[in-house]
Amino acid sequence: MKPINVGLLGIGTVGGGTFEVLARNQEEITRRAGRGIVIKMVADKDVERARQVVGSAATVTADAYEVVNNPDIDIVVELIGGTSIAYKLVLQAIEKCKHVVTANKALLATHGNEIFAAAHQRGVMVAFEAAVAGGIPIIKALREGLTANRIEWIAGIINGTSNFILSEMRAKGSSFDTVLKEAQRLGYAEADPTFDIEGVDAAHKLAIIAAISFGIPMRFNDAYTEGITKLTAADIRYAEELGYRIKLLGITKRTAKGFELRVHPTLIPARRLIANVEGVMNAILVCGDAVGQTMYYGPGAGAYPTASAVIADLVDVTRMHTADSAHRVPHLAFQPDQLSSVPILPIEEVETSYYLRMRVHDKPGVLAEITRVLADGGISIDAMVQKEPSAGEEQVDIIMLTHLAIEKNVNAAMSTIEKLPVVVGKITRIRMEQLGA
Ligand code: HSE
Repeated sequence: MKPINVGLLGIGTVGGGTFEVLARNQEEITRRAGRGIVIKMVADKDVERARQVVGSAATVTADAYEVVNNPDIDIVVELIGGTSIAYKLVLQAIEKCKHVVTANKALLATHGNEIFAAAHQRGVMVAFEAAVAGGIPIIKALREGLTANRIEWIAGIINGTSNFILSEMRAKGSSFDTVLKEAQRLGYAEADPTFDIEGVDAAHKLAIIAAISFGIPMRFNDAYTEGITKLTAADIRYAEELGYRIKLLGITKRTAKGFELRVHPTLIPARRLIANVEGVMNAILVCGDAVGQTMYYGPGAGAYPTASAVIADLVDVTRMHTADSAHRVPHLAFQPDQLSSVPILPIEEVETSYYLRMRVHDKPGVLAEITRVLADGGISIDAMVQKEPSAGEEQVDIIMLTHLAIEKNVNAAMSTIEKLPVVVGKITRIRMEQLGA
């Protein structure tokens, strides 16, 4: 059978890796796919560099529309990123009845509903394994491997840059700014690392995970997103002393009131496997009603790991493209007319437990005043530590861990406590999850 023809949009780090791995493993991939998969055309702004990568194996152009409009191209691989030009090109490729493989989490999280509807109408596949957690086959696992389950919750370390920063802050006691510079020097963080450190990249990935786990549309705009920029080395140390690690987690959970969809720094017990995922690695913990907890671990970025996911999608599309579109695995795991409209819970309605650190004057009655406010708000204290004052100081840090409480009640209590004359400055609040069975 003649090979299937692929057009590649963008041949940077991931595109170059995809080209190389596809060429290197062509024989094995052909044996798996049932026919060859060949990159016939490449579009990149830097035509010279693209030619150096592909040699004479593919036609190179600076005009991506030449690729998406070419009738000889069967599958378009979009590796440009962002939500402007990539958005137009993906819709145009679908319009031209081409299958699409993309690593673009921002695009799917923000425009996925429109893109999947267009693909459904045209009977083409949009595959996106590389969009979440790089080389970890988490989309495949959720959409197919765990399909018997009612997914209860997922908690994931799905941004390698922020996990690297938190790991280094803990290991070396360094400040956030120092480690961020180190991450940039090592090439982990983007030149503008805002999406990584503010939790936006993780929220993009979480919106995709939630959609295929619960059968809901992409709800990125409803996600609560808080990054790691305000975390201090002191909080990481105090958490450690209490038996916890702080990780930037993407959490999505089924509750009686709606789905939770939130990204924020989270204290988790240090003994959990996921608490020990360090550096740029990713890990996703999934709880299904039948299987219980399963965890998926691996590199969340990088040329070859991401290429591994892109090529897996190419093989899937190659195997399935002649199948009746109604008999393929649905894009979002559930049949498109079966998506649920259950709402995403506002963060104020979320119930979890909390780490609260406050600085207070070290004098009689202070604790009683604070615990009274918490008791009035129905917030129960699970553990408490008062740190020794430094020499010559009369202010101390108090750390409290709460039992489960509704966030709006905690907000109200924090605001009352911050107004007490014995309390200095603002309270640091970090959410906690036990992630138990
Ligand atoms: N910037 C992402 C991360 C890479 O740090 O995990 C791939 O999404």
